Amino acid sequence: MPLNKLQVRVQQIRYEAVDIVSLLLVDPSGAELPDYAAGAHIDVHLPNGLIRQFSLCGSPTDKHSYLFGILKEDPGTGGSKFIHENIHVGDLLEISEPKNLFKLSSRAERHLLIGGGIGITPILSMSYVLEQQKAEYILHYCSRSPEKTAFREELVDVVQHGQLCFHFDGGNPENGLDIKTELRDYVNGTHLYCCGPEGMMNAVRDFSSHWPVGTVHFEYFTQDALPTNEFDETAEDSEFQIRLASDGQVFTVPAHKSIVDVLRENGIFIETSCEDGFCGTCLTRYLEGQPDHRDEVLDDEDHEEYVLICCARSKSPELVLDL
Ligand code: FES
Repeated sequence: MPLNKLQVRVQQIRYEAVDIVSLLLVDPSGAELPDYAAGAHIDVHLPNGLIRQFSLCGSPTDKHSYLFGILKEDPGTGGSKFIHENIHVGDLLEISEPKNLFKLSSRAERHLLIGGGIGITPILSMSYVLEQQKAEYILHYCSRSPEKTAFREELVDVVQHGQLCFHFDGGNPENGLDIKTELRDYVNGTHLYCCGPEGMMNAVRDFSSHWPVGTVHFEYFTQDALPTNEFDETAEDSEFQIRLASDGQVFTVPAHKSIVDVLRENGIFIETSCEDGFCGTCLTRYLEGQPDHRDEVLDDEDHEEYVLICCARSKSPELVLDL
C-alpha cells in the first residue's frame, strides 16, 4: 500500500551549524500531521524532480510539525545543495508520510546510540522518547568540532536522564570515540543504534559483529555506507509472478528485471529513489508469498509485512502485493 503524499509549508529555516540548516514543516492549514515514531524519515519531493530522504529529529509528541536537518553536501548528489540554495520560508513542499526503518526496540533493556555528524538527526528524535520513558541509555555524538555540531544545545536540554557524550575529533577519527572499546563487552539486553558517515558505520558494524543478531540497528541514507550485500550476485535469478491484490492482475517478473520495472512497464506508477534497497521509498506491503528480501534496511519484523520492490525477488512462485 503506497504511502500518501502530503503538502506542507516551510515554516522555519534555521542555521544549526556550519553547512547545516534545519527545516520546520507544517500543514498549510495548521492541521495535525500524521504520527511518526522516533527514527522515522520522510521523502522530500524537490521541485527539481529529485526525491531525498531526511530523518525527522523533533519530538514525536509534536503533532503539528516535522523538523529535519540538512547538511549541504558539495558536490553530493544535488538534493541538499538544492534545498540550501533554493528553498525558502513559506514555500510549499511535497513529502511522503513518515516511514520508519530505524525503530527503537521494544525488547531493549538499555540503549546505546551513536550518531555521527548529520546522522544525529534520528537519534535526537530517539532521545526525546527515551527521556519520556526514563530509559537507560547512552548517546555518543561524534563530530569534527563544536561549530559543526548541529542540535548541540537541544541535546544538552533534552538528555537529562540518559548520558550524553560529545566527541570532537578535529577531522581525525583516532581522536574521537573509541568504538572498538565501547562495543567490546556486550551487556545483555542492550540495543545499539547508529547513523553517521560511512567510516563510522563500518567501524560500528565491524566492532559489533559479536553482538546478538537483531540488537544492532543502522540507518543508511547513502549507498556507500551499506554493507556488501550478502546474496550472491553471480547466482542466477529466476522468474516469478506477482499478483496485485486490488484487481488480481498477474505479471511475470523475468530474471533480469525488478518488480518495479515490470509494474512500470504495465502502466503502474511506483515511486522510487535509490532503486537499490536502502532508502525505503518503494516500501510495499505483501499479503501472500515469500519474498527474497535483498535490502539491508528492514529488520526481521518489517520483513514479515513489507518488501522493498526495487530490489527484492521471490522465493515462492507468486508474491501477492497490496497494490
Ligand atoms: S527505491 Fe529505495 S529502497 Fe526501493
